[in-house]
Amino acid sequence: MDREWVVVVGAGLMGTGIAHAFLAGGCDVALMDPDPQALGRAANQIGRILDEGVQRGKMSASDAAAARSGLRPVSSATELGQGAALVVETAVEDLAVKQQIVRSLEPLLGEHTVLATNTSALSITEIASAARRAQRVIGMHFFNPVQKMKLVEIVRGLETDDATLALARHWCERIGKTHIVVNEAPGFTTSRISALLGNEAMTMLHEGVASAEDIDTSLRMAFNHPMGPLELGDLTGWDTRLKVLQYLHQTLGEKFRPCPLIIKMVKAGRTGRKVGRGVYDYDADGQRIPGSGLRVR
Ligand SMILES: NC(=O)c1ccc[n+]([C@@H]2O[C@H](COP(=O)([O-])OP(=O)(O)OC[C@H]3O[C@@H](n4cnc5c(N)ncnc54)[C@H](O)[C@@H]3O)[C@@H](O)[C@H]2O)c1
Repeated sequence: MDREWVVVVGAGLMGTGIAHAFLAGGCDVALMDPDPQALGRAANQIGRILDEGVQRGKMSASDAAAARSGLRPVSSATELGQGAALVVETAVEDLAVKQQIVRSLEPLLGEHTVLATNTSALSITEIASAARRAQRVIGMHFFNPVQKMKLVEIVRGLETDDATLALARHWCERIGKTHIVVNEAPGFTTSRISALLGNEAMTMLHEGVASAEDIDTSLRMAFNHPMGPLELGDLTGWDTRLKVLQYLHQTLGEKFRPCPLIIKMVKAGRTGRKVGRGVYDYDADGQRIPGSGLRVR
């Protein structure tokens, strides 16, 4: 029997992890991104995660080799061909970009292909409005790093049908993820809370309430969070975080107004661990440099 294949659109932080999850789940993956450097970085990173999986005894060397050979990096929809079982859109957090992707990919999709978006906060209904078959569009919100985070938040848009929901559940089970189902609301359940927490932590840093390290330590040690909110923002990317906050501010109101320090950080290019600089600085191996927490003057 032919292996099922999945299209992942966007080879950034999340596209890399999502592509790995489906490869490890026994699917072939076409990973699409117009940026050749992003495709190269993603292929290398997927190789590293597969190697780690073998070293930790999570998968056999032959399964890892099969997974590696199932990856096909492509730079545009014209190289895709037909027959994908699932598409996961995970390009930048921008409604117009996501709608354009839906428009350009839909003609290549079969009647029953599920078109999932990994948006952190945007309206599934609005993304789906670009599709002829809006009933096939659904949110599948993964978490970073995908290989470690167990949850997928499935989000129903206004027109998402039951068959699409059932298929989204099936795909989560297939790749070993736990899922929850939420009705569409800005930021769903997870981003709505996480954005607020990160914004408040950044506001405290901005006001000089405490150092970055001490704010993170307080959440880790007082409330048992595995990471502090500033460390988490560095991992997520402050550019993505800012886009989410701007959307939540627009849709849910004043309490989500982005902290000016986040806006300044994005302007300065301090978008987080992916570029080696965020609230903290990181070395070439992605390890945090001790004592590097941002000082606000
Ligand atoms: N970073 C996180 O922790 C996180 C968690 C859950 C969901 N998300 C969501 O996942 C999506 C991607 O976030 P990310 O952190 O991977 O961003 P990223 O900046 O790391 O990567 C985005 C990628 O999209 C590519 N891209 C831009 N336009 C494209 C197009 N038209 N077609 C294909 N690719 C295109 C870019 O070249 C880039 O490689 C966003 O919607 C984000 O909100 C992010």
